[in-house]
Amino acid sequence: MLEIKNLETGYGKKQVLFDISMVVSAGEIVGIIGPNGAGKSTILKAVSGILPIWSGDILFNDKSIKKNSIAENIKSGLTFAPQGNRVFDELTVKDNLELGGYLLDKKKLKKRIEQTFETFPILKKRSKQIAGKLSGGEQQMLALARALIPEPKLLLLDEPSLGLAPNLLKDVFEKFVEINKNFGISILIVEQKVNEILNISDRVYSIKLGKVAFEGKPSELIGNKDKLKELFL
Ligand SMILES: Nc1ncnc2c1ncn2[C@@H]1O[C@H](COP(=O)(O)OP(=O)(O)OP(=O)(O)O)[C@@H](O)[C@H]1O
Ligand SMILES: [Mg+2]
Repeated sequence: MLEIKNLETGYGKKQVLFDISMVVSAGEIVGIIGPNGAGKSTILKAVSGILPIWSGDILFNDKSIKKNSIAENIKSGLTFAPQGNRVFDELTVKDNLELGGYLLDKKKLKKRIEQTFETFPILKKRSKQIAGKLSGGEQQMLALARALIPEPKLLLLDEPSLGLAPNLLKDVFEKFVEINKNFGISILIVEQKVNEILNISDRVYSIKLGKVAFEGKPSELIGNKDKLKELFL
């Protein structure tokens, strides 16, 4: 479904990614882990169309998307919930969801919001509430729901657990699995919560200094303290 081939890119003259190759197959949850500053967010920015790429290619359903705009990617079924960018605080829950569907026609948008409320009953209850007054976990659900409005085939998530209290982590990660299983949406997810991400991923990549340092099954890393330490040093 998604194929990143020998991707190289960076900011200004500074190269951040070196020869990154990755695959996400249909139906998979794929995790990306690695230390701060390794280049994880940069990978998602390149895939989503926010950051131009220097060389290599990115294929989505066998077609190159390396020159696509963000809107073109959303239309073709690829949505992105960026790091730290949660919700529009001043707007209501419903308004936030409507913004997620800005490319849809009115009728379709209405239907998608109704369907999304079925997946997130909490948000339905709070639909008229100002998003800034939701709890951290509810805001995270809203950010996730917003990325789902355009009916993506592949969802890119950048540290969705950031700042969440430990007791909320379970709910949020369970939601990812539910979305993946019930709707067949593939997920590429960057996460610092290593144990949680290893538990829900089908495959995992570890990024270190802009390169792929490990690729394999979570079972190869779960409980392997030495290997995990090596990947995060
Ligand atoms: N907008 C930017 N302009 C210039 N350099 C940037 C920019 N964004 C990131 N970088 C640099 O690129 C490198 C990789 O950053 P990136 O955000 O991809 O790391 P990350 O693995 O997501 O880290 P974290 O776990 O802290 O989110 C870092 O050295 C960072 O300073
Ligand atoms: Mg990041």
